[in-house]
Amino acid sequence: MRRNCLILLLALTTAAAQAAPDGKALYTTWCAGCHGAQGLGDGPDAKGFDSKPSSLASATYKRGTGDKAVLKIITNGIPGTPMDSYGDKLAEDQRKALVQYLKVLRGEK
Ligand code: HEC
Repeated sequence: MRRNCLILLLALTTAAAQAAPDGKALYTTWCAGCHGAQGLGDGPDAKGFDSKPSSLASATYKRGTGDKAVLKIITNGIPGTPMDSYGDKLAEDQRKALVQYLKVLRGEK
């Protein structure tokens, strides 16, 4: 009986983890190399690019901070710059979690 409860608990926590991807962890894995751990645009991979990775910690972005605008950039990238498209690498809910995490970097959350 107790064992069943444990298994149920495990299943529930796993389901919860899947329902809400961790934006911070995704950011660290996929974005911080260029945009920096705090979003200042100073990641170790940023050196040597012609176009400097944007500071994602500033209150405004060149292309806007609306959820749709930011999601579009993450999904499609910015052609002609090192900013890659993540539409084929990350699921939509993961990209949306990143949109939310960038608000933390901007100090909105
Ligand atoms: C290979 C380096 C690199 C990686 C990795 C990278 N970016 Fe970028 N990103 C850039 C560069 C460079 C720009 C600026 C392009 C320009 O305006 O010239 C940019 C621009 C942006 C912008 C637009 C900011 C503005 O001011 O309009 C957003 C939003 C963004 N990146 C989010 C992300 C997210 C989220 C990730 C992780 C999924 C990520 N980037 C990963 C290099 C990178």
